[in-house]
Amino acid sequence: MKKYKVGMVGVGRGTAYGTVFSQHPDTEVVALCDLNSEALEKNGKDFGLSDKCLFENYEDMLNSDVDIVVLGTPIPFHAQQTISAMEAGKHVLCEVTAADNLQDCIRMVEAVRKSKTKFMLAENCNYMHFIAEWNKEIKAGKIGTPFYAEADYVHEIRSLVDGKWRANRAPLHYCSHSLGPILMWMDDHIVRCTASGNQSRSFEVATDGNIDIQVALFETAKGATIKVLRSSVALRHPALCSYSIYGTKGALESSRSGYNGTGYRYFEDYDPREGRQIEISYNDPNAPRSAAAGGHGTSEYNLIMDFLRSIEEDSTPAIDIVRGMDMTVPGLIAHEAAKRGGVWLDVPRITD
Ligand SMILES: NC(=O)c1ccc[n+]([C@@H]2O[C@H](COP(=O)([O-])OP(=O)(O)OC[C@H]3O[C@@H](n4cnc5c(N)ncnc54)[C@H](O)[C@@H]3O)[C@@H](O)[C@H]2O)c1
Repeated sequence: MKKYKVGMVGVGRGTAYGTVFSQHPDTEVVALCDLNSEALEKNGKDFGLSDKCLFENYEDMLNSDVDIVVLGTPIPFHAQQTISAMEAGKHVLCEVTAADNLQDCIRMVEAVRKSKTKFMLAENCNYMHFIAEWNKEIKAGKIGTPFYAEADYVHEIRSLVDGKWRANRAPLHYCSHSLGPILMWMDDHIVRCTASGNQSRSFEVATDGNIDIQVALFETAKGATIKVLRSSVALRHPALCSYSIYGTKGALESSRSGYNGTGYRYFEDYDPREGRQIEISYNDPNAPRSAAAGGHGTSEYNLIMDFLRSIEEDSTPAIDIVRGMDMTVPGLIAHEAAKRGGVWLDVPRITD
């Protein structure tokens, strides 16, 4: 495999992937870009990069010798930065979610369609170990035909919402951690939705980002129902990121006490020796020890492995622009449904 040169823009979350890329034998981190010169300098030192590898101007980084661009910037920048990178012939790994409005989603789809390089949305939850294991069991028919799933993602980050870019991000806009795994399990996409939750009692100045909590109901093309509960301000510690899925032959439920813990399964053709309790862990026991450097167990490592494989084999990335939009657009429409008092709205599949 060729050694790929990686450039990262946004040295906050972006460096989580950077750490994994810098330890990977087939990639090297050669450039960083950030508007914040102090953060840029500090991260440059951490990655052992000289000043000429550090860029405050994104276009300058795109003009340098990088093959892959990792977008770790706030969501409102993802669309234009994706478009510029793809026009410059770079592969793009873009943090979640893809964009915060429908027009930007459409612009991204057009840019990816025109480009010969790869785009992948970095939805790390799809790569948590138990999520990937459930995927194999569901695809093997263990729960039969899925007809219902739910995901609760309640993560209090008030200090990151108040006065920052997240002040404008409605809870349901950040729905890919919830919809990503469920749509992968169901091999499906959303066609309709409704939602509730449009008030902020937790802050003096109400913004979309500090709406207390939102809950959405989604209907899929195959006729399944999905419920998503989302909040960035509700006080609950540790954060809740839980999933359950029901099918014609059984069900799977994750832990409600963090990303690790004890979950539950019921399979109709269940062997009592297998037990109903299951271990929930985001760590893949087969990944190397250094693989846990990305911040969420081994999920970022396995995601990067898939992304690199798609580049190397010239195949469709596991979370390509179609799947990336499938887990982004429904949240935008669901928030609109909540604002309009809980109407049902059609969800366009802009990649069709
Ligand atoms: N997958 C996950 O688990 C996870 C976790 C946290 C954040 N995220 C995602 O990561 C992304 C970044 O989130 P964050 O919390 O690190 O954001 P942040 O506000 O901390 O910003 C990250 C960095 O980007 C820089 N930046 C902002 N605008 C820029 C621009 N136009 N050009 C260059 N640099 C710019 C900032 O100076 C900062 O250093 C978002 O898409 C977020 O949703 C994902």
